[in-house]
Amino acid sequence: MGFIKRPYGITSDGVQVDEVTLTNASSMEVKIITYGGIVTSIRTPDRNGEIANVVLGFSSLQDYENPHPYFGAVAGRYANRIAKAKFILDGKTYTLAQNNGENSLHGGTKGLDRRVWTVEESTAGLALTYLSPDGEEGFPGNLVIKVVYSLNDENALQIDYTATTDTPTIINLTNHSYFNLAGEGSGSIENHHLMLNADTYLPVDASLIPTGEIAPVMGTPFDFLIAKAVGAEIRSSHPQMVIGHGYDHNFILNRADNQSLVLAAQLSEPKSGRVLDVLTTEPGIQFYSGNFLTGELIGSSRNIYRQSDGLCLETQHFPDSPNQPHFPSTELRPGNIYQSTTIFKFSVSQTEA
Ligand code: BGC
Repeated sequence: MGFIKRPYGITSDGVQVDEVTLTNASSMEVKIITYGGIVTSIRTPDRNGEIANVVLGFSSLQDYENPHPYFGAVAGRYANRIAKAKFILDGKTYTLAQNNGENSLHGGTKGLDRRVWTVEESTAGLALTYLSPDGEEGFPGNLVIKVVYSLNDENALQIDYTATTDTPTIINLTNHSYFNLAGEGSGSIENHHLMLNADTYLPVDASLIPTGEIAPVMGTPFDFLIAKAVGAEIRSSHPQMVIGHGYDHNFILNRADNQSLVLAAQLSEPKSGRVLDVLTTEPGIQFYSGNFLTGELIGSSRNIYRQSDGLCLETQHFPDSPNQPHFPSTELRPGNIYQSTTIFKFSVSQTEA
């Protein structure tokens, strides 16, 4: 694996940010910056060997410092939402920033996506570390987080997350890349085909917090067990599609145990032939169809991003788990290690889907 580090920019408060480029022997190249651990670019071949960047992003640090919907970033300390920005742990109530209506979203106003991470020596790939101090954004515990990005010659980008704490806390980390397998800035992902390995999903209330119900996908627009075009039912008036303005839901992955890697999703784009397999150790995946992209942001190719110009496949524990005891626990206690792995594996299909 090739590894090149270079200066990327200086934040508005004067901190140096670096960019690391990972390359492999199969024409793939991934760029990650130390600001937010953001994956700024994934360049991968199509079925004719044409290389394109398949993730949304920007071309400058200033753009990443401006408000944006978490392009490519590490989302945390708690990816997705916590209802009313409050949770109780060991009898104590913790209050977080309300940065999404009255809820907390993706770790608060200055989450892990807006912190400068440190590059650690590693033979495995790019290892980024960050110490989130006790009380940061309202979360308890000094949390030591490590995210390792590695790229193999089979075009698999692996992301390994680990964390430890000195005080009981909660944690839920994900990568928030927006994929467009036809190429970033090339238009809508509605023609992409998607398979989600999930018999059930979590319906949400008007503020996108799970109601607590675990609903079958069968017979609804949420059935992706057999791959179908993302756009096939995206205009359905199913009440959950109306609430989400499209897909913005956690799917519960079918898995035999609660720790091994499973194929969570397969995304393919018929014209380019590019295919993305998402494997994870997590119990859920948030499928977000880029509903709130409004044409206001100018991306790295200098085109604006409109609704559904990219989609997210965020491997995660379920939203609002700290307030929903029947969901898998997101608690982390001193002496235990938080561990999570997600693999984004790229390939090509020779036939038009
Ligand atoms: C959420 C969306 C949100 C987006 C950008 C996704 O993970 O599910 O509701 O708009 O992130 O913040």
